[in-house]
Amino acid sequence: MDGNLGRPGAIGTATPRVDGRLKVTGEARYASDFPLADPAFAFLATSAIARGRIADIDEGEARAVPGVLDILTFRNIGDAVKRTKLFSDGGYVGSTIMPLGSDRIFHDGQIVAVVLAETFEAAREGAHRLNLSYAPEAPSAGFDSPGAETVAARDVSSTFEDPAVGDAEAALATAAVTVDERYATPTQHHNPIELFTTSCAWSDGKLTVWEPSQNVTGLKYGLAEQLGIEPDNIRVVSPYIGGAFGSRGSLTQRTVLIAVAARRLNRPVKLVAMRYQGFTIATYRAETRHHIKLGADRDGKLVALVHEGEEVTSRPDNYKVAGTDASTRLYACPNVASKVSMVHADRNTPGFMRSPPEVPYLFALESAMDELAIALNINPVELRRRNDTDKEPIKGLPYTSRSLMACFDAAAKSFGWDRRTPQPGSMRDGDWLVGWGCATTMYPTQVAPAAARVTVTPQGSVKVQTAAHDIGTGAYTVVALTAADKLGVPVDKVIVELGDSDLPPAPVAGGSNTTASICNVVAKACEQIRAKIAAAAVGADSVFKGADAATLVLADGHLQGPGGTSEPLDKAVRRVSNGAIEVYAENIPHGAPPDGIAKLYQGHPALAGGAKLKDRIQFAFGAEFVEVRVHALTREVRAPRVVGAFAAGKIVDPTTAKSQLMGGLIWGVSSALHEATEIDRRVARYVNTDLAEYLIPVNADVEVADVILVPEDDRQVNDLGIKGLGELGNVGTNAAVANAVYHATGVRIRELPVRLEKLLDAPVAL
Ligand code: MOS
Repeated sequence: MDGNLGRPGAIGTATPRVDGRLKVTGEARYASDFPLADPAFAFLATSAIARGRIADIDEGEARAVPGVLDILTFRNIGDAVKRTKLFSDGGYVGSTIMPLGSDRIFHDGQIVAVVLAETFEAAREGAHRLNLSYAPEAPSAGFDSPGAETVAARDVSSTFEDPAVGDAEAALATAAVTVDERYATPTQHHNPIELFTTSCAWSDGKLTVWEPSQNVTGLKYGLAEQLGIEPDNIRVVSPYIGGAFGSRGSLTQRTVLIAVAARRLNRPVKLVAMRYQGFTIATYRAETRHHIKLGADRDGKLVALVHEGEEVTSRPDNYKVAGTDASTRLYACPNVASKVSMVHADRNTPGFMRSPPEVPYLFALESAMDELAIALNINPVELRRRNDTDKEPIKGLPYTSRSLMACFDAAAKSFGWDRRTPQPGSMRDGDWLVGWGCATTMYPTQVAPAAARVTVTPQGSVKVQTAAHDIGTGAYTVVALTAADKLGVPVDKVIVELGDSDLPPAPVAGGSNTTASICNVVAKACEQIRAKIAAAAVGADSVFKGADAATLVLADGHLQGPGGTSEPLDKAVRRVSNGAIEVYAENIPHGAPPDGIAKLYQGHPALAGGAKLKDRIQFAFGAEFVEVRVHALTREVRAPRVVGAFAAGKIVDPTTAKSQLMGGLIWGVSSALHEATEIDRRVARYVNTDLAEYLIPVNADVEVADVILVPEDDRQVNDLGIKGLGELGNVGTNAAVANAVYHATGVRIRELPVRLEKLLDAPVAL
């Protein structure tokens, strides 16, 4: 570790993860790694039908398995679980389907029993020997299924508005050039490497929960509601999280069931759900359909944009993907119309998955923009330039900063875009048809109210505590860098504690808000510490006597003032306290409600920003370029080269930032080419529910994945100028791939994934 990070400027210095060693040596404890005293083990039994009723449960054989202790079903759970609201309606749960609530089956793979046993193996055998009989009904699998019900988002949500301005249909009717196409994206499941695990232990009416979580405070409050107990009787511990991608932001059914089981047995209970169960006991990316209509003048300036989206959701819940907030505001356009609808089917409730709205909605828009560029015979980069804007078109609000074209220029240059010949199939390399495509990415810059406690000792050791979450993104590292920067101590002197609901509350690790929210509140706490130290120094008989306290800085382990005055940190700290200086700080960002901290304390983070502000709009942007190679004979698709340039305000740690963006790009490519959860539509069941059929790209698949960080300074978004970028990297990549495939083959794939069978009829000569 570079030892000279103890100064202003640590923020922005490429730094390896401070928790890297713990992780690679296996010392980092994930939720199910925590030892429990004499635990019982749980195994979930899940529904074999997607719709209907449980007609009977024969527990005899299961209870006879040696070691089986108890079996929880809807028949014996009583009223142990209280009904609560969906997170989007002010609750905490990701589905309103009650855990073991009744004999009703809402989707395939629904939890129907929890078998508890002395060992994992006995619990599993018990679950397999549980005999359930069903009264099945014909399920609706999704779009176009008989019985599926479509509702408009604006009709079922009091807060949702379909963005619109001008008269899009009239403008389309007279536009010089139009594109009118339909696009679709499939069901996808986040498969974090860490399984869906929950351990619960009660002691004197107090419950400890170990669970990988993106919102430990929300989990605490939501679970308290479900159990009908005081929130302060619950502690949620989640220091390390093996991936999340949105799957751990709201409560799933398993948590309360394990808490109830542990109370019944009066013994800690551990659940490590199976990989296949993760597909139905948690959320997923809903399949979507889009109708896009673009109208442009001969110069390529948009005159009309219509975006209608349809999304599959569960029978009882109105989960919205709703990416029109972004897609209607990306380009200058005087006439915009949009509509979001949900289609209720017999499926588990979908939810957040990395860049939930932007991934599907920008696939549609950025594919259509490529089609428009072709119709106009304009370079796709030039088309974006002609429609660039510093104001969003719906309300005319200014972007706080927008470096979209700087990103396009940087990425195009690095990629060599000027060597592209536009004709499909024109860049053939032997048997390989080479295609180059590009697309825009955008992601809302969101900041939430947050709290943190910072402690500094005379020895110069610093502790930062906040109930934020490191879902693998580098949160520990950016927090440590912030404290190192503001307190002038080396980064390895900073201890960061996250992921525990007993710490000062922090927002959900969602919406890419953690770095901006947490670093700003930590910086605030550090500034209060500096101010205390400085005030004591100027008021005492010291080299700083009489100086302006505001001019004193903490750097290189010293308090430093005008004219080269300096004294060691320990001396300066001791003037305030012989023990430690401890400061608790809260931050309410621009646009967050005044009661944002009160809400935060109840696990309801008020994410402010994006297109939700009244006075301005704040997004991060990027440009992505992909090279695909389609084999002329086999139509095998490769994507050997990806270049992305991104501008996301101040970058706290370029190392972790690049890692996030690169991961996003690579996932974006594999998602576009391979990723779909296939559904047996007759029975509304996912069929490829394992990792064996989940194609994970390796180095040989994407040989070059270059990330360019375009400098951007935006002090409007927050004091540190941080925009956040965890989700920025995998938006638009799907469209860039499909656009490149078109360029290679002349085949326009409007329904993901791309897959070679869709390219068999390519018009390009073999
Ligand atoms: Mo992310 S899908 O906002 O957790």
